[in-house]
Amino acid sequence: MLRSHNCGELKSSDINKTVTLSGWVQKVRDKGFIIWVDLRDRYGITQLVFDEKRSSKRVFETAKELSREFVIQISGKVIERESKNTELQTGNIELLVSELNILNASETPPFTIEDKTDGGEELRMQYRYLDIRRNNIRKNLIFRHKVTMEVRNYLNNKGFIDIETPYLIKSTPEGARDFVVPSRMNSGEFYALPQSPQTFKQLLMVGGIDRYFQIVKCFRDEDLRADRQPEFTQIDCEMSFVDQEDVLNQFEGLISHLIMEINNYKVGVFPRITYNEAINNYGSDKPDIRFDMKFGNITDKAKGKGFKIFDSEELIIGFSIKKGASFSRKEIDNWISWVKQPQIGAKGIVWVKYNEDKSLKSSVDKFYSENDLTEWIKIIDADPGDLIFILSGKTKKTLKQLGELRLAVAEKTGLRNPEIFAPLWVTDFPLLEWDEKSKRYHAMHHPFTSPKKEDLNLLNNSPEKVRANAYDLVLNGNEVGGGSIRIHDSKLQKQMFNLLGFSDEDAQSQFGFLMGAFKYGAPPHGGIAFGLDRLVAILGGKETIRDFIAFPKNNSGRDTMIDSPSLIEKPQLDELGLELKKI
Ligand code: AMO
Repeated sequence: MLRSHNCGELKSSDINKTVTLSGWVQKVRDKGFIIWVDLRDRYGITQLVFDEKRSSKRVFETAKELSREFVIQISGKVIERESKNTELQTGNIELLVSELNILNASETPPFTIEDKTDGGEELRMQYRYLDIRRNNIRKNLIFRHKVTMEVRNYLNNKGFIDIETPYLIKSTPEGARDFVVPSRMNSGEFYALPQSPQTFKQLLMVGGIDRYFQIVKCFRDEDLRADRQPEFTQIDCEMSFVDQEDVLNQFEGLISHLIMEINNYKVGVFPRITYNEAINNYGSDKPDIRFDMKFGNITDKAKGKGFKIFDSEELIIGFSIKKGASFSRKEIDNWISWVKQPQIGAKGIVWVKYNEDKSLKSSVDKFYSENDLTEWIKIIDADPGDLIFILSGKTKKTLKQLGELRLAVAEKTGLRNPEIFAPLWVTDFPLLEWDEKSKRYHAMHHPFTSPKKEDLNLLNNSPEKVRANAYDLVLNGNEVGGGSIRIHDSKLQKQMFNLLGFSDEDAQSQFGFLMGAFKYGAPPHGGIAFGLDRLVAILGGKETIRDFIAFPKNNSGRDTMIDSPSLIEKPQLDELGLELKKI
């Protein structure tokens, strides 16, 4: 071993010990006759002293060569530090160096390897291995490891078996775009990288593995956002002989356990709401319920009183902001401008102040009496001191706009507290959604999701009304998991493919293997997959998953460190039977 201790562990009780450390030079302070060096490794920082009088000439001269990020090995005596540093774990001691060995020199790094670095995001992505030396990223990666180990232990203890499924699979037209891989041995043919191990985990159920899990890479060629990467990791799970209730209970256990173990935070029984309730009450299928601000629909009460804007609209709906009556006119105007920005697209906000003294003031006082406004207040559930924001318009659009406004106001007023954890099950998703572009139904979750038994009779005539045995786990307003009870009957699966616009032939060629398997005794089964990156980020109090991935892609899907994607040479293209078209 090139060290007897690490850089984070020496303390007063080690004084007078002779030790050996290895690590990176974080900082050099050369006062001429004395040199202080901060030595860093994964565990912390230890201060080294090279003293013209107390160190040998050879060691002192070599110390003069040291510079940032040199890798060195030193031996020396632990001594008490004169000016203690209470911020450092090792702040009571320092090391008087007697031996110095430069293991590797370093060029000056492109940014400082410190908590507050001078390097911008792009530069740090390009030199990610240096960024990982910084506390911020390293801590996140260790945090991720901790979460992953907890997941593995928990599921292992519950009898789940970790099984790997292939990465070179078959492209399917559902879901996001596939990443494809050309096959050299089968010229002109392509594998696809899995968007998830969905069909394989179902085949494992047919194979009798009644509890499966895998912490697995998934690949989706979709537009990127703070919570999306083209390759990301799922905690993928499947169980046999279960209904929806069993799956929800099983995985509520896992998530409560994680929040307790990782964050020492106790969450109670997870609330459950249906998809329709989520949309109507919060304008989102992934509502953040760390705060209330539930919508109140005042359409019936607000129409027909001579206020033209409301009279002609389909939906009039609002929420209350706790203690918002103290908002200044300017603050309210800022929110009005906010909803008018093109990304939101509302025409304005109608507001009502319910003052502490119970008096009322609104932007529509001309049209509505105090009695009218009092009725609104009841429906929207405001208390004295609150402010009500109301939007109106077409139902779907207005709900979405109000949902966005709710989140933005909550963010601004400090309600999106990362130290609070508010999980929520959203259930009863629609089975299908109509896609205007392709003029056909798409599976809202995926084509293997089962319809609710009581809605089966609607499948042929009103497919859009059919609810699915599908559920999402929402944590602090983020979709961290989704799953369903699957179809396990080959006839129903075939009917589903037909509804999704597949001809019998297409269904057979794309998914024949699954329908075939269902003919040999498929057990009832269901499951869920959690987005590990998202879960880890939220448990870590953040929403940007990139910071919790060792080597992430940037927003254009590039890895700037290895410069990928990149062109390949003609011989390689020829071997794969591919030709590049000039665009
Ligand atoms: P779904 O498509 O809902 O379900 O994915 C499950 C979870 O994976 C996470 N996720 C992502 N995380 C980061 N970047 C992405 N691009 C990304 N896409 C999805 C989300 C999501 O909730 N096979 C089904 C699961 C099942 O039915 O069992 C599936 O993949 O947190």
